[in-house]
Amino acid sequence: MSTEIILKDLIKKFGDHTVIQDLSATIQRGEFFTLLGSSGCGKTTLLRMIAGFNSVESGTISFNGRIINDMQPNERNIGMVFQNYAIFPHMNAFDNVAYGLKQRKIAKNEIKQRVMEALEVVKIADLAERMPTNMSGGQQQRVALARALVIKPDVLLMDEPLSNLDAKLRIEMRSAIRGLQQEFGITTVYVTHDQEETLAVSDRIAVMKNGEIQQIGTPEEVFRTPSNLFVANFIGKANAFQGEIEEISGNGMRIRIADGTSVFASVQNDHASTGQQVTVTARPNAIMFAKDSGIDAVIRSAHFLGMTYQYTVETMQGITAEVQSDAAYGTLCSVGSKVKLELNENRINVFDTEERAFAKVGSGNA
Ligand SMILES: Nc1ncnc2c1ncn2[C@@H]1O[C@H](COP(=O)(O)OP(=O)(O)O)[C@@H](O)[C@H]1O
Ligand SMILES: [Mg+2]
Repeated sequence: MSTEIILKDLIKKFGDHTVIQDLSATIQRGEFFTLLGSSGCGKTTLLRMIAGFNSVESGTISFNGRIINDMQPNERNIGMVFQNYAIFPHMNAFDNVAYGLKQRKIAKNEIKQRVMEALEVVKIADLAERMPTNMSGGQQQRVALARALVIKPDVLLMDEPLSNLDAKLRIEMRSAIRGLQQEFGITTVYVTHDQEETLAVSDRIAVMKNGEIQQIGTPEEVFRTPSNLFVANFIGKANAFQGEIEEISGNGMRIRIADGTSVFASVQNDHASTGQQVTVTARPNAIMFAKDSGIDAVIRSAHFLGMTYQYTVETMQGITAEVQSDAAYGTLCSVGSKVKLELNENRINVFDTEERAFAKVGSGNA
């Protein structure tokens, strides 16, 4: 049975500096749960708290209902993988992977069998005798992964495991990690600052800022219905337009954009009032060039990227926006062309002056 992790009201301080502020989350059994946030927001600190390397100033961490705050790291049965691999340079791949099993005083025959199995799982069985200095970054990270998996951990913790690899290898390894995690069903907490990687591998994502979780949701939820402007900007590009609520109706609100055009947003409006200032965001592929009416803008850069056309436009109000459209048909519009921007009303998000989202009608996302 895999492990459910409950983090409750966690606080972590280094001296007077509070790094984790009253953080709560439930990580489900077998889930691939990612902590996403920019450098310094507290991801590693939180991961080390779960591992038992950091003290907990307040709150509780529990595994399957049992509070583990005072349990030693080596009693938690956790597999860890780090950015810098942290494999032993003076041991070959086999001995690196065997290390944890030897410490647990497991019989020699069983060690041999389990290490070879683990090396096979990460597809480097043929490198068992090889020393780390003669391995590529990707191969070393596979050793680190095998070493984490071989102890049959209840929980797998990974701290930016792919950041030292080149782009191609990162994509290959993230697929491998996700595949293994699903095969074994291990509850996994994964740390990264790479939003694309997060979307690609996670069951759920916690977006962090300054030691606080801003939103927890599936990749689609976090991308499509960000709970605040920070999340909207952090995951993917969000073009922002200032507006004012012009009219409130039963199923949403009409918003006048600063340049005089308007959009209808299907959002909950019980806290809204006419005249209220709001921010409307649209992803680059939720903006189209319209024929007759729309936000007046000029194309400042134009690129054909094979699958898509990619434009930077500037509105008369001086707002810069990115527009992306399907490039299966048509031709590239030229720099300097005047265009009218139409926002796809089904795909806009609306935020109040405190940068909190108005919940979309029907999305069930508060
Ligand atoms: N051992 C420590 N002593 C003092 N401050 C620390 C320590 N570890 C981390 N911090 C501080 O905690 C904050 C969060 O760091 P960290 O968890 O490493 O962020 P992230 O992994 O998200 O980049 C940073 O301001 C960092 O300087
Ligand atoms: Mg870190």
